[in-house]
Amino acid sequence: KEIYLKDYKQPEFKVSKCDLCFELYDDYTIVTNTMNIESSKKDNQLYTLKLNSIDLELIELYLNDLKLSDARYSYKDEVLSVYNTPNKFSLKIKNKIYPQNNTELEGLYKSGSIFCTQNEPEGFRRITPYIDRPDVMAVYTTTIIADKKKYPVLLSNGNKQSENQYGDKHSVTWFDPHPKPSYLFALVAGDLGVINDSFRTMSGNDIELNIYCDLGNESKCFHAMRSLKDAMLWDEEKYGREYDLDIYNIVAVDSFNMGAMENKGLNIFNSHYVLANEELATDRDFMGIQSVIAHEYFHNWTGNRITCRDWFQLTLKEGLTVFRDQCFSADLNSKEVARIEDVKALRERQFVEDASPTSHPIQPESYISMNNFYTATVYEKGAEVIRMIHTLLGEEKYRKATDLYFESFDGQAVTTKDFLWAMSEAGKVDLTQFERWYHQNGTPRLLVSEKYENNKYILRLTQVIPNTLEGQRQRVYFFPLKIALLNEEGKEILEETLTISKEFEEFSWETDSKPILSINRDFSAPIIIKQEQNDYQFLSRHDSNSFVRYESMHSFGVDTLEKIIHNDEIDREFVDTYGYILDADLNLSFKALLLELPSVSTLMQRQEVVDFEPIYEANEKLQKHLASVYKDKLLSIYKNNHLPKDDSIESLSMDRRAIKNRVLKLLSMLGDEDIIDLVKNQYDNSSTMTDKIAALDILENTTQKEGAVSLSDFYQRYKNDTLVMNKYFAILAASEREGTLDRVMALQNDDVYDEKIPNLVRSLIGVFARNYKHFHSKDGLGYKFVADKIIEIDKINAQMASALAGAFKIYEKMNETNKKLMKAELKRVVSTHSLSKNCYEIVNKILTK
Ligand code: ARG
Ligand code: ZN
Repeated sequence: KEIYLKDYKQPEFKVSKCDLCFELYDDYTIVTNTMNIESSKKDNQLYTLKLNSIDLELIELYLNDLKLSDARYSYKDEVLSVYNTPNKFSLKIKNKIYPQNNTELEGLYKSGSIFCTQNEPEGFRRITPYIDRPDVMAVYTTTIIADKKKYPVLLSNGNKQSENQYGDKHSVTWFDPHPKPSYLFALVAGDLGVINDSFRTMSGNDIELNIYCDLGNESKCFHAMRSLKDAMLWDEEKYGREYDLDIYNIVAVDSFNMGAMENKGLNIFNSHYVLANEELATDRDFMGIQSVIAHEYFHNWTGNRITCRDWFQLTLKEGLTVFRDQCFSADLNSKEVARIEDVKALRERQFVEDASPTSHPIQPESYISMNNFYTATVYEKGAEVIRMIHTLLGEEKYRKATDLYFESFDGQAVTTKDFLWAMSEAGKVDLTQFERWYHQNGTPRLLVSEKYENNKYILRLTQVIPNTLEGQRQRVYFFPLKIALLNEEGKEILEETLTISKEFEEFSWETDSKPILSINRDFSAPIIIKQEQNDYQFLSRHDSNSFVRYESMHSFGVDTLEKIIHNDEIDREFVDTYGYILDADLNLSFKALLLELPSVSTLMQRQEVVDFEPIYEANEKLQKHLASVYKDKLLSIYKNNHLPKDDSIESLSMDRRAIKNRVLKLLSMLGDEDIIDLVKNQYDNSSTMTDKIAALDILENTTQKEGAVSLSDFYQRYKNDTLVMNKYFAILAASEREGTLDRVMALQNDDVYDEKIPNLVRSLIGVFARNYKHFHSKDGLGYKFVADKIIEIDKINAQMASALAGAFKIYEKMNETNKKLMKAELKRVVSTHSLSKNCYEIVNKILTK
């Protein structure tokens, strides 16, 4: 059944108070849910109350303390209806659930021996019948009763109210004073390790901070704790937002469908985004932890205090919170590198999605399964939309506007329109046309043509807007376009933020000589720029805007690879520029980005009909050429920056690892013995996971023997640490070597692998499905394998299965041979008996749009 935004209606009942009691047993859990409910209408009529509930096993039901007879209620199609309710009443429901059998990881479930919850968007209805929608907000009291020995730690939202002992059992009661929607409810019970700290807020409250994890992992929680305190301080300084409970708890669990969840006062995290130390985590992992910890913390204001009216408003909290976490990471690390990394991720994931049959606006119009809309579009493009508002308003007005937003809507469930109202009101800009970014899909293009005559520079811009999936025309956008004109020395003659709002626009400036255009500085708008002429060679060497410098080098690389594909010819100018960058004195992480060649996905996105083989061939050719021309330079960069015993995560140390692993990878293309020795050496002697993984990846992809030796060494060393084993599986699943599919299939029987743990499925099956070489192999076996897995996993975890199905999104664009093979598999999946609505929605779109 498809749900539409246009059908939104206010709830008929409100829940003001929700008292929950959980009795946790080994084989089942008893939930007692007592709600104070009030009809929204004041007319003293009798109404039917409808509560959402999945797989309800009802024990009893009381209305105002009177047990209801069977005739007063019914349960059908995931709805519990209670007939003839008065205007205001209390309803007590007792029901039974089976968390230990819950493999969907939605609602209350067990991750190993830990009880935990995931309720966004609609998991709460798997716990107890409820008006499970975000515009119903209640004050929760939660009591948990469990075995004292097995579950010494009992947590829920808010502040701890009381504790009791009864023989082998104990109970803890939590009270959360802030009214909240059910999706923010959380419960955790287990025998957990913990680290504590505290934070004094700007108005002088001392907050107790706890991070819980499996016993023995406590020492891996310190980076997360540091990040949490940094985030709390940053939100006070940048947004004036203070924390509002006495306790902030974070719990790390191994089985989690997504990254993390912002439950009020009790965040639950995929352990991947909490646990780290220098030996076991890569630099990327450390950065990921910092940003996800901050993201969930920032939700306390953008998401929890002000929440969404309905799930079509998801980008209200996610786009804004991603923008906030991006700015946080940029402030704490390198701004220029952070921005480039954000844009890279946007293009690899969101641009691909937006060009596919699952393309949707950041505010979709309809969905079958809301779980399918936690997408790169809603999150990352949503963040770009907020960033454009920030650019249009400027820092000062943006702050005034967010203050107004918090002031006006605190405690409410609101819409993106409410947010835009605050922005335009305090920002004093008309955002009527801007609002199209919320309702239209696809990536806009901007055609750029330039002219210089009579000391006048003329810039002509044309917006080209893609049609909807149904072929309807969409309208032009309003956006900020940051540009500069540079002189021959790379000096800025002027820098301006133009506001673009029409299909055709022309700008002109008087200049003494022909300037060089630096366009979409800082990626001020999430669009594709198409230039008639370009100055990539100049800009990649001299632009003062680091983003455009990166962009020009990147586009130069794309052109170069396409020339190889079409004319089998390597552009000398590009090779020279590459050498220039190798010599340039730059921040080393930034330099590593400039030296990275365009990804296979970048080139694929530009193909009319997708075929991966020529892309791989061109890539290999260019890399080998660069490596042989610059072998000495590359080697000296490697040697100057390879400090095997430096395991610090200070920026200079990370920068060094970034550049030296970049050049090592390039050098390895030569296959020379001296280089392989360096790689082996790095694997054996480096103390960081970043270096070990980089070396292992190279060995796997370039050598038979050494690769195998190091891989088995790695396995023996780390087989007891699942987070590290994810990296092992990912390297094998991404391998370009022959026989990868067979090895992936065999690895499913490995002792460490477990299909019920999403991280492992993502690392093995998910990574394989993004291994273009083997997934798209012309024998169709890659497709068949992934389709089999989708069907199999769909029976235990529908969210995981539909995420895997995303690999087929590129179907429509594939060449005929691959397309035929894909189609057969997609049909097989979609006609599977009792396929989940999650999978159905994705696969059906791929086949029909
Ligand atoms: N709100 C969470 C976050 O952005 C993600 C929850 C995702 N849940 C889901 N069912 N897809 O941090
Ligand atoms: Zn979020």
